[in-house]
Amino acid sequence: MKGALAVFFVAAVFAGSAARAADPTYPADTGPATIDVSKYPKVQQDAYKVFLDKCSTCHTVARAINSDYATPEEWKALVDKMHHKRYSGIDGDAQKTITDFLIYDSSIRKKDLLAAKLKAAKAAAVSTSSMTTPAAPAAPAKN
Ligand code: HEC
Repeated sequence: MKGALAVFFVAAVFAGSAARAADPTYPADTGPATIDVSKYPKVQQDAYKVFLDKCSTCHTVARAINSDYATPEEWKALVDKMHHKRYSGIDGDAQKTITDFLIYDSSIRKKDLLAAKLKAAKAAAVSTSSMTTPAAPAAPAKN
């Protein structure tokens, strides 16, 4: 019954925060709310717990899990943005732990997306065009 309890707890936290911040629901919110970290290194399994704890206080953790963020730069910027939100409860240590976890997780779970994004970024960097076109921003998750 541990699972049911956990679901209730997450639902309660989410209901509470939804009332606090009229936050629009993202399509990614309805996707899977867990990551199978059983094959991840121990340090990342521990970091996963910090991620679940800190990134679920204002919205579903599914929003982060099913997002299209994949590159280290994207995760650094995103976690920094979340850290700066009022009452985020994410201190410097947690910010680093979570960023490292999400970068590692993307290298496994979003291997193809990550490779495509890095390739596109590299192509943009070596482009002979005098206009510096920044890499396209992450598209919102479609599921
Ligand atoms: C203090 C509240 C709060 C916390 C804590 C929080 N978020 Fe958010 N998050 C938001 C809000 C509000 C939005 C809506 C879009 C915005 O304002 O940026 C959002 C949107 C998002 C989005 C989708 C929007 C986008 O910019 O693409 C992702 C992904 C996300 N959060 C990931 C995370 C992760 C990862 C963590 C943990 C490091 C986290 N959030 C912690 C408040 C929070």
